[in-house]
Amino acid sequence: MLNIAVLISGSGSNLQAIIDKKNIGDMKNVNIACVISNKSSAYGLIRAKENNIPAFAILKKDYENFDLWQKALIKKLREYKIDLVVLAGFLTILTDEFINEFDKKIINVHPSLIPSFCGEGYYGLAVHTAALKKGVKVSGATVHYVDSGVDTGEIILQKAVEVLKTDDAHSLQQRIMQEAEWHILPMAIKQIADEKENNK
Ligand code: GRF
Repeated sequence: MLNIAVLISGSGSNLQAIIDKKNIGDMKNVNIACVISNKSSAYGLIRAKENNIPAFAILKKDYENFDLWQKALIKKLREYKIDLVVLAGFLTILTDEFINEFDKKIINVHPSLIPSFCGEGYYGLAVHTAALKKGVKVSGATVHYVDSGVDTGEIILQKAVEVLKTDDAHSLQQRIMQEAEWHILPMAIKQIADEKENNK
């Protein structure tokens, strides 16, 4: 069984996609052990509670500095014996202490086809605004391992999405979530869990 923690900052629609796959019996080797948010208002926390998944808000304002906040996060993940940390719209860059603790055990979903429109500053709508400005005809999403760079880790899965002439950043963001992120993120988790099971 692969024990996962899903880290969120907002709506948690990617979290919902993972929960839905689990609920239809598609991820037998995956246990969603907990959900952690760095924002108390994140709707994803409600989604977790509705599905009886332990959910926590670990807020930077409750700690003296970033380092202590990150240590609290690591402590919680250790407590739940997490095998894989899933960053699903988690809008905080983690430092080496975290990355080293969970070496090759952190994945992230990014709303573009890496190496396009990624790296420092490319998050949220900025990614899609840049893609539209460049005039790309195809964008998409990428699930990748997290290393000490920003969006530089090994790519696990990608899915392309057509950019329409009528798109603005909002509509492109929405379609990339629906057509790509919500599919490849659960798929990548399932793949990692199945590999773990087969290597037993
Ligand atoms: C997604 O576009 C994700 O790729 C990005 O933030 C958004 C998260 O949405 N990093 P949600 O919280 O999963 O609904």
